[in-house]
Amino acid sequence: MWEDILQSFTPVSLLGIVVILLFVSSVFSRREKRKEPPGPRPLPLLGNLLQLDLKKIHNCLFELSKQYGSVFTVHLGPQKVVVLAGYRTVKEALLNTAEAFGDRDITPLFYEINKGHGILFCNGETWKEMRRCALTTLRDFGMGKKLSEEKIIEECQYLIEEFQKHEGKAFNNSQVVNYAASNIISGIVFGSRFDYKDPVFQGLVHRNNEIILLTGSTAIQVYNVFPWLGPWLKTWQVVKKLIGICEEDMKRLIQSLKETVSPETCRGFVDVFLTRKQNLEESGVMDSQYYDDNLLHSAENLFGAGTDTTGHTLRWSLLLMAKYPDIQDQVQEELNTVIGSRQVRVEDRRNLPYTDAVVHEIQRLASIVPLSVPHKTTRDVTFQGYFIKQGTVVIPLLSSVLHDESEWESPNTFNPSHFLDKEGKFRKRDAFMPFSAGRRACVGEGLARMELFLFFTSLLQHFRFTPPPGISEDELDLTPAVGFILGPSPHELCAISRE
Ligand code: HEM
Repeated sequence: MWEDILQSFTPVSLLGIVVILLFVSSVFSRREKRKEPPGPRPLPLLGNLLQLDLKKIHNCLFELSKQYGSVFTVHLGPQKVVVLAGYRTVKEALLNTAEAFGDRDITPLFYEINKGHGILFCNGETWKEMRRCALTTLRDFGMGKKLSEEKIIEECQYLIEEFQKHEGKAFNNSQVVNYAASNIISGIVFGSRFDYKDPVFQGLVHRNNEIILLTGSTAIQVYNVFPWLGPWLKTWQVVKKLIGICEEDMKRLIQSLKETVSPETCRGFVDVFLTRKQNLEESGVMDSQYYDDNLLHSAENLFGAGTDTTGHTLRWSLLLMAKYPDIQDQVQEELNTVIGSRQVRVEDRRNLPYTDAVVHEIQRLASIVPLSVPHKTTRDVTFQGYFIKQGTVVIPLLSSVLHDESEWESPNTFNPSHFLDKEGKFRKRDAFMPFSAGRRACVGEGLARMELFLFFTSLLQHFRFTPPPGISEDELDLTPAVGFILGPSPHELCAISRE
């Protein structure tokens, strides 16, 4: 039959048909190669905004991943965003394809905060040099060093004194816990801690906290999609004002350090920066990355990224201890047996496997940076069979990694056994990724882990944490407050002295 059909064509028309078929198949195969990640159908202009609860966007995205798979597209207004969900996918993107997924998406809000300078909301050479400078300073003044261990232990004493002032009565620990966390990064950035009553310090911590909370609000997310709406959005006007005040306060702090800087006695990040700047200028290099705006915004980034993150995690830890008294009992028993009443040190961690597992489980369950900080592709990339264009916004959904059903035995319950083996020894888990991974991974991971361990153990040695009188453990609410970084909702706890 085929022979009959073929004979009815002239050779020229046969050749024409073959060429057409080849062309069509090449178009289709190119389309096939350029298959984009699936996702819900977007509306014109609004995209999928009406399908998403912007206050709990991480939960909505996690749900969508169950329907569309671990690589999918959502449209935030006209902007196309690729979401990566689950441990395997996030790991493959951030670690195995690190360079392609390694840029930061600088939203209109992020641009207003840093104007393209600093570390957190910046790309290219500036980011590279500022990140390197921050990491060296943290290594020399902070992470893994006795110096910062001493600083954290000293700060624990101030925090314990604050808690003691309440004499076991219920109080909201949010402010003092944030002050304590902030003082550690302040010591590294500025070279000294602040008194908890210092109005400049209080203002900086409070405004920083407000900005992070409002960044998670619907109004600011709408602003990021339609920045031209800014003049009509009250929340945006508030945030803009807060950013301006923070910047002025930070400039004044830096100015006072400039007046007293000496290369022989580098006190912290600001001094390191100023000294490098001077050395470069003296050797005739005038176009380096060491200029004033980079100093201002890098200092702001370290202060901002190092305060609420650690503070919120510590507040979750106390709330979870009050909610799960049996787990608190076991931590305190291990501390009694292994440490007694002496100060806990970082090196004790390996002899405190249960306590270590509890600290990890707190970070896993709280998942305080659920969306990570948005990334952007540096080039066209084909990932898990999908084509993703250069410059596409990418959300590595960290909450979906920390609650991945195929990685965690009971993803939604507080279960320290996730980090313990059968003999009760600490068990490392690859899907523990609260600090993200790869090129943009958290700069302060080592410092934060040291802080969380020392603050948590010191507080539990001194206090028993309980709900306020008349409130049962079951009534303690674990719903997070709305924000870009998820802290617990406002609550009170009693810190009852154990001495
Ligand atoms: C519990 C505490 C903390 C958590 C959970 C946390 C988590 C994160 C996450 C998820 C990111 C985004 C990573 C990405 O884009 O893939 C990040 C970035 C960052 N963090 Fe942290 N962080 C914490 C504490 C700190 C501290 C104490 C500092 C201060 C030294 C810090 C400084 C930074 C900086 C500068 C970045 C930006 C890195 C870059 O863009 O290259 N963080 N952090």
